[in-house]
Amino acid sequence: MNTRFTFCMIKPDSFKKDCVSDILLEILKAGFKIRGIKITMLTKGKAEQFYDIHQGKEFFDRLTTFISSGPVMAMVLERANAVETLRELIGKTDPTQAAEGTIRKLYATNTTQNAIHASDSYENAEREWSFFFSKREIY
Ligand code: CMP
Repeated sequence: MNTRFTFCMIKPDSFKKDCVSDILLEILKAGFKIRGIKITMLTKGKAEQFYDIHQGKEFFDRLTTFISSGPVMAMVLERANAVETLRELIGKTDPTQAAEGTIRKLYATNTTQNAIHASDSYENAEREWSFFFSKREIY
């Protein structure tokens, strides 16, 4: 099968709630292979760079303050239809709107503290994993 790569980032609220391993399990159960993985902490400046496309939006400061408030787990994942499948698995941004059984429905608190980020296109996935990983860190 023709597999592709996507990127995701488990957010600080998941570390606080101690549900990182539960989220990882959901991702693995869905058939994704982990090709790169690291835990790190973003500075406010790095978070602003990562979420650059949201500059100027009402929630930008809230989002980047939250993302830089604790650890994140960045991952490069491989599967057929990787971007579309992972977006479906994580569910809508706002957990009250997310479908039953999705990661955000299960683990998110609100629109800011929403457990996990997943790339919305293959182009953005490459930009986003390059932010965290060198080529040598992706298998
Ligand atoms: P994420 O998938 O990481 O991509 C952009 C993030 O911006 C999104 O998840 C939310 O956490 C955040 N976001 C989007 N819309 C809003 C909003 N209306 N209020 C607060 N945060 C938002």
